[in-house]
Amino acid sequence: MATAEQSKKLRILLIPFFATSHIGPYTDLAVRLAAARPGFVEPAVAVTPANVPVVRSLLERHGPAACGLVEIATYLFPRVDGLAPGVENLSAAGDDAWRIDAAAIDEALTRPAQEALLMERCPDAVVTDYHFFWNSSIAAELGVPCVAFSVIGAFSLLVMRLLGGAVRDGGSESQVVVVPGLPEPEIQIPVAELPEFLRRPPESDDKRNQGRAGLSSCLGVAMNTYQDLEQQYCELFVRVASLKRGYFVGPVSLPLPPAAAGTDESPCIRWLGSKLSCSVVYVCFGTFAVISEDQLPELALGLEASGRPFLWVVRADGWTPPDGWEERVGERGMLVRGWAPQTAILAHPAVGAFLTHCGSSSLLEAAAAGVPMLTWPLVFDQFIEERLVTEVLRIGERVWSGPRSTRYEEREVVPAEAVARAVARFLEPGGAGEAARGRARELAAKAHAAVVEGGSSSRDLHRLIDDLIEARAAAGLTTSPSVAPVETSNNTDGK
Ligand SMILES: *[C@@H]1O[C@H](CO)[C@@H](O)[C@H](O)[C@H]1NC(C)=O
Repeated sequence: MATAEQSKKLRILLIPFFATSHIGPYTDLAVRLAAARPGFVEPAVAVTPANVPVVRSLLERHGPAACGLVEIATYLFPRVDGLAPGVENLSAAGDDAWRIDAAAIDEALTRPAQEALLMERCPDAVVTDYHFFWNSSIAAELGVPCVAFSVIGAFSLLVMRLLGGAVRDGGSESQVVVVPGLPEPEIQIPVAELPEFLRRPPESDDKRNQGRAGLSSCLGVAMNTYQDLEQQYCELFVRVASLKRGYFVGPVSLPLPPAAAGTDESPCIRWLGSKLSCSVVYVCFGTFAVISEDQLPELALGLEASGRPFLWVVRADGWTPPDGWEERVGERGMLVRGWAPQTAILAHPAVGAFLTHCGSSSLLEAAAAGVPMLTWPLVFDQFIEERLVTEVLRIGERVWSGPRSTRYEEREVVPAEAVARAVARFLEPGGAGEAARGRARELAAKAHAAVVEGGSSSRDLHRLIDDLIEARAAAGLTTSPSVAPVETSNNTDGK
């Protein structure tokens, strides 16, 4: 059927978890893979129907050419008790987000549709999210190589891995743990700030171990990070996790897509144009995390009292600011509801600080834009990512030093005065924010250098493609694909 010419192409199927924070980097990676070897690599991003618009709008942001470079493949979302039909991502699920998380790692639920898709498309290589650990065995059955792609960086993955056993040994909720086995600086984290799976008794360990075992048969793990951002942690993670290879290919959102120039038309970019250089604090808590109804007015009043210009992206449907707030704030503040062009905002010279939840993609985008951060983590591994920002890279400061928690019901309301103080102090000329900005700008220069031809991320991207080609060729030589996994277990045991 296929001509010799066609069969030489490398058709890669990328399968992200059901969240914008994963679908985004996967789509960006697909574009970069295609652009690295034009006409040779043919990527397709596999999502469920309700997430197709997410991929499409991301591709459009890369310009019309990108839409032709990357295909969108679809498979059906599993039937999940308690989720309305059509709810297929964390943003849409609200309080039921845990059901999406649980479904994603449930092999009986989610594997069948993905397996059918893989069998039908027979790609030359598979790039899968961590959740879908079975995809490495399906790839092995198909006789094609598999790579895991982590949207979370090396520092956070490493800390979670190292803490795996340490926390539960008689750990109380008020305990502070020291992360074992890390190079300087020492990192301490209260148990309350750890991701849920590290706070609970290890009931789901079977699943996690299964996942690790599955993915260890992969060719390696690619990560949305770059060597200069997390150097010592990149190498250590590869060792601790017994990976065959680590590919550090980020930030995949760089270079800023040419289409971003078109977002100059957006009202918030116009508004930023009226502000002084480095004067504005950009506030955004990502596409998923929820801020309580009690917290929103305190945040609003705090931004007002800071006296600084602010651009605030709010994702709370139906919420209205306190009485008279909008009039008092006037032109000094801008409220954006829903989606905002984050990369273009961060790249704008008027932005002086980013008040962020420390999601891995936001952190990376801020570092790549050279914008220092005010940190306000909420869930998952965000308190770990925060420590990379404030303690390792020293490109940001915490907003609130009171007790915090990854659990919604344990969260304290951060008072308006604390918000105002943190923002005003950080943006003060000659203050902590300025020193942090200097370091952030160095990291930004390194991020841009990493992704251009010859840079570390570009080299790793090419190496990834070369390794996939080689693995495909090797698999083609063996009559039985089961040869590959044997090789694998030898390798992992040796470490
Ligand atoms: C999430 O899913 C909904 C459908 O439930 C879809 O309309 C939306 O585009 C998706 N949004 C994001 C931000 O992931």
